[in-house]
Amino acid sequence: MRIGILTGGGDCPGLNAVIRAVTKALIKTCGAEVIGIEDGYLGLIEQRVRPLDLRAVAGILTRGGTILGTHNAANPFNWQGRDVSAQCAEFARSQGLQAIVVIGGDGTMAISHKFSQYGIGMVGVPKTIDNDLLHTERTFGFDTAVAVVADALDRLQTTAQSHHRVMLVETMGRYAGWIALEAGLAGGADVILLPEVPYDIDAIAEVCRRREARQRFTLICVAEGAAPAGGSMTVASTVEGSHDPVRLGGVANVLKLALEQRLTSEVRATILGHIQRGGTPTPFDRVLATQFGVHAAELVRAGQFNRLVVLREGRIASVPLADVAGGIRTVPLDHPLLTVARSIGVSLGVAGVP
Ligand code: F6P
Repeated sequence: MRIGILTGGGDCPGLNAVIRAVTKALIKTCGAEVIGIEDGYLGLIEQRVRPLDLRAVAGILTRGGTILGTHNAANPFNWQGRDVSAQCAEFARSQGLQAIVVIGGDGTMAISHKFSQYGIGMVGVPKTIDNDLLHTERTFGFDTAVAVVADALDRLQTTAQSHHRVMLVETMGRYAGWIALEAGLAGGADVILLPEVPYDIDAIAEVCRRREARQRFTLICVAEGAAPAGGSMTVASTVEGSHDPVRLGGVANVLKLALEQRLTSEVRATILGHIQRGGTPTPFDRVLATQFGVHAAELVRAGQFNRLVVLREGRIASVPLADVAGGIRTVPLDHPLLTVARSIGVSLGVAGVP
């Protein structure tokens, strides 16, 4: 049995842990040959593969990034304006690949679902620091990103307190607020702003003003996709020609300017950016990634293809790949952590709520 493995989309702590687990499990349980496809689907397009044996995956459990490389935009169905999927499938067949384990986010899974039409068994493993994939309670990489943001909040809290400043910390997360919510709680943020809860700048300024008088500092954790109620004052509206605030980053800078106009305190903004995606995965992410990888290998061995490994009610399971394509999981407005935040007086930047 020859099985391919690729990592697609943005990198994420824990990718190497999955590669290691899939490779080890397949070699040890059924003596499979494992073939690494380089740079996501680009490796199929450009015909770049290399064998993965036990030696190749030794010592990579704790390493950030992906030893296979990845690519954000390599889509065989639309590569530089052409559909090269049939050639990719032909190449995979010429390599004797019966199945491919694909580690990626929603975009990669949508491509993989489509690619299964060529009769190559596809098994997906969900990856994203954003934790926003449908049908899985957790994606690996998220815990690491939360730890990085919480650490940043810890550090910024002491400098905010010393200088009596308002500190804004912008997290990643695309259109979902999971990272900002969990890290904001873990790092003791006074205000947490999420894409799911449109903010009111005057409500945020009011929180800062009250704290100016007493605690004399404010820590604000803002998700990159957060936007004001009514939709004005986005980054897109401040940067000519751009319409995607998430791709640009910088909502923290927009808020900084708006708060400076309303407060006497100094305001500083920190955009954490790709720091949240780099470096060694947390123990939780290493274990989750290993569990996902082993389960993916089990699905391959059992011939159960076109499925995505997920975490459901705390157990590793799988769902049809078709179910995942084209949707994201945002923070529901009745999520218990939102209630927890409100109960301890964390502001979600909503007007009329103290
Ligand atoms: O989906 C992961 C993620 O890190 C998002 O949180 C962020 O919006 C985006 O990718 C950044 O993408 P890029 O690495 O292409 O700048």
